[in-house]
Amino acid sequence: MKLAISCDHGGWELKEQILEILQRVENIDVIDYGTMSRDSVDYPDYAREVSEGVAEGTIDRGILICGTGIGMSIVANRYRNIRAALCNDIYTARMSRLHNNANILVLGGRVVGPGLAGEIVKTWLETEFEGGRHQKRLDKIAQLEKTVTGEQ
Ligand code: RB5
Repeated sequence: MKLAISCDHGGWELKEQILEILQRVENIDVIDYGTMSRDSVDYPDYAREVSEGVAEGTIDRGILICGTGIGMSIVANRYRNIRAALCNDIYTARMSRLHNNANILVLGGRVVGPGLAGEIVKTWLETEFEGGRHQKRLDKIAQLEKTVTGEQ
């Protein structure tokens, strides 16, 4: 699975901790799109590469982190085909995969600590979409996307 991660300054510390867990402990490769320090940046700029990559299929799944996770969620969900889920607990992370086939996980770097965040990420990566009745609902979202953008 091609996985990418990005954050603003509010999520930088947690991004570094998650990278450490995924790369060193879990041996999972992650493309890191920054930001690379605590210096203040704007989250819409840092949601872009991960969201575009997932939307276009060059990245399978993404992780976005800002202070609360709200800004990154708002931005990512503007992209076509993106189902970004703000999950600051394990149950929500699991359900976002089972029922919503979420392709971007969003975390609040000022909300969850590294231990919980690591479990959330692992759960989210390991849980498969259930399909069935949930696929029908995702199809409706895709149709809605076309309608609101004036495509159909
Ligand atoms: C940055 O201070 C903060 O506003 C940002 O990280 C995020 O929480 C926005 O939703």
